[in-house]
Amino acid sequence: MGNLRMLFSSTKLPKFNTYADFRRIARRRVPSMVFDFVDGGADGELTLAANRRAFEQVVFEPRWMSDVSKIDLTTTVLGEKISMPYLLAPAGLASVVHKDGELAVARAAAKANTIFCISTGSTYSLEEIAAAAPTAKLWFQLYLWKSEEVVTSLIQRAKEAGCRALVLTIDVPAVGKRERDLTNGMSLPPRIRPSNILDAIWRVRWLSHFITGSEITFGNLRGIAAGDDASTVGEYTSRELVDPSVTWERLDWLRRQWDGPLVVKGVLSVHDALECVRRGADAVYVSNHGGRQLDSVLGAASALPAIVEAVNGRVEILVDGGVRRGEDVVKARALGATAALSGRPWFFALAADGQIGVERMLEIMRADIGRTLSLLGVPRFSDVDRSAIRPVSEPIQDGQK
Ligand SMILES: Cc1cc2nc3c(=O)[nH]c(=O)nc-3n(C[C@H](O)[C@H](O)[C@H](O)COP(=O)(O)O)c2cc1C
Repeated sequence: MGNLRMLFSSTKLPKFNTYADFRRIARRRVPSMVFDFVDGGADGELTLAANRRAFEQVVFEPRWMSDVSKIDLTTTVLGEKISMPYLLAPAGLASVVHKDGELAVARAAAKANTIFCISTGSTYSLEEIAAAAPTAKLWFQLYLWKSEEVVTSLIQRAKEAGCRALVLTIDVPAVGKRERDLTNGMSLPPRIRPSNILDAIWRVRWLSHFITGSEITFGNLRGIAAGDDASTVGEYTSRELVDPSVTWERLDWLRRQWDGPLVVKGVLSVHDALECVRRGADAVYVSNHGGRQLDSVLGAASALPAIVEAVNGRVEILVDGGVRRGEDVVKARALGATAALSGRPWFFALAADGQIGVERMLEIMRADIGRTLSLLGVPRFSDVDRSAIRPVSEPIQDGQK
């Protein structure tokens, strides 16, 4: 009897402990075409893999017997004090995985006292998101549209909604070739077809929202663009959001339009980082769009050291791409970033369990960053520097040749 009691414990195990847990449950909750839209990268997905490899190749060098009884994760990003150095990156179309979409993400970010960057392509409008989470620290991500009028009105709306920083994404002069989306016929809004009806029908919660909920489209563009065309997401974005003729002079123009903190996202080269500094950006956001744009570029963490060295403390450095664990955030700091962000982790957490899922994901991230600092022997996140790591095979060199 005693053994039986030992065998069957009534204590429930937490459902989610890792990124892999969120991803696995998300896969069960949404149809494959939706899962692939989030999970996939461009072309051969070489950069998608490189993002993880870049973090994996960095190893720590701990200093034992330091006093780590008090761990401090607080970080100041662009003048904003937040409770931890991990932020939620802009990613569009969140309602494609859960009815609450970006509203849930903003509420979870507010609870954790960290920043959520709203995407231009969010399903809820930035006003709806700001109203749903009045205490949230929000940023707004912008693409430079063909129409200057549209850009000006989005900037004005972001200002009025209380967004504290503007993030200009520069790595989309064309939309990357997302091969999984093409194979699956992923469109905006998603369409149930004979080829995927069996796949969708089992996802009861997703399907009932899909059938009865509001149309999944770009909330910020209501009244501006015809978002309910059944064109593919890529084609739609390419036609409406992207101006392939943009050059660095537009950043000067944008700098004049926005007097708050300005971040430039998608930087992978020293050249571009220096353009950002020269033209008055407040932060360089090193990113390859999670491997969704140009394939065969450096993993984001590998691009950091050269950029950090060239920028030389003049502006802050942010990074995303493959950040999955607390230790990645600490590695990013050791490589010179102020803080790190990610996209897929919150997207899958939202798909798996709505707002509670995103809250849990942030809790896990916070605990993991703290534990990593304890084990590393550095009690304050802000004290982590290059001495905390040793690159195994100097992946930084790869892209410099
Ligand atoms: C589903 C999805 C949608 C995205 N949409 C946008 C977007 O609208 N604007 C943008 O600048 N980046 C977008 N991104 C890129 C993210 O901001 C971020 O760079 C990327 O997710 C980081 O890689 P990670 O997913 O490995 O963390 C998107 C990413 C995903 C996964």
